[in-house]
Amino acid sequence: IKRIGLLTSGGDAPGMNAAIRAITLKCINAGWDVIGIEAGYNGLFSLSSRPLTHQDVDNIIQRGGTILKTARCQTLKEDNGSELAAQQLDKLAIDALIVIGGDGSFRGATQINKFWPKPIIGIPGTIDNDINGTDQTIGFWTAIETALSCIDKIRDTADAFERIFVVEVMGRDCGFIAMESGIACAAEQIICKEIIENESDFLSKLYSSIQHAVTWQQTQSYVIVVAENALSISAQTLAQNIQSNTGVDTKSAILGYVQRGGAPVAMDRVLATQLGIAAVDALVQGKSGVMIGTLNNTLVEIPLADTGLKNTANQALIKRLKQFNFDLTD
Ligand code: F6P
Repeated sequence: IKRIGLLTSGGDAPGMNAAIRAITLKCINAGWDVIGIEAGYNGLFSLSSRPLTHQDVDNIIQRGGTILKTARCQTLKEDNGSELAAQQLDKLAIDALIVIGGDGSFRGATQINKFWPKPIIGIPGTIDNDINGTDQTIGFWTAIETALSCIDKIRDTADAFERIFVVEVMGRDCGFIAMESGIACAAEQIICKEIIENESDFLSKLYSSIQHAVTWQQTQSYVIVVAENALSISAQTLAQNIQSNTGVDTKSAILGYVQRGGAPVAMDRVLATQLGIAAVDALVQGKSGVMIGTLNNTLVEIPLADTGLKNTANQALIKRLKQFNFDLTD
């Protein structure tokens, strides 16, 4: 191995720069060149790449986003897309590829590997924490901190007005951001797909639970953290329904992309640095087609083909939610 290709793909996540830094410095130490491919897999098709130096990765560990830019690549999904990507990697004379991204990015990597039998290593980077085979993904804890600081502010105004608030957080189809930020802000309810068996039963139970809390004045304000895509109705509609069911003034707030930005918290910087170093170590050891993750605080290598999305029956999440649920109706 002489030249490592490195790209960030899919939704950016705070901590991606920390991983880029660790990989670059570790490769330079090993005497390898690092070629940063820009804007995810798109940079392969447009041959937009540049060597990464010590200077390029200096002073970036604290920056959100990704210095390599990112994208969701359509060309890779087209017929022959992965074959073309393989040819482009050869044009760039890349000997091994490291992909920092989420599930879609790993599916892309697995496809490319069919036509490009050289080492590819994945590093899980997404705020959603929805990748199988790792307890944590880069960016997850920063997104929670961001959501938390927003929800704390919402709590102030909710409390002052004695209002109910529905706060929607990100996570795509997964409830981890909702769960952790909900626990940390002492949300009265945390709603995510994983715990809903029947939506209309769930909602009628929710309305009566809120009614109960309001009637008995258990709380001055009532905050519901809901994961995006958890329900078939929007956060705004949920708020309207709650208001008409309970008679209490109810507002909604969608936190949105703010959750993807900002300086990574220490946890993400450390995780990203660890995973970056381990990815290069894996290449040194001749590994390929694996994601480097952590399970029970131990570094693990999981075949990329076995990663996939954490499914809606995620037992860890369901168990944790039940543990922290103080809802009286349960
Ligand atoms: O995967 C990260 C994420 O922010 C999800 O939480 C969200 O559903 C999605 O990306 C938004 O994607 P896009 O940036 O393409 O709008």
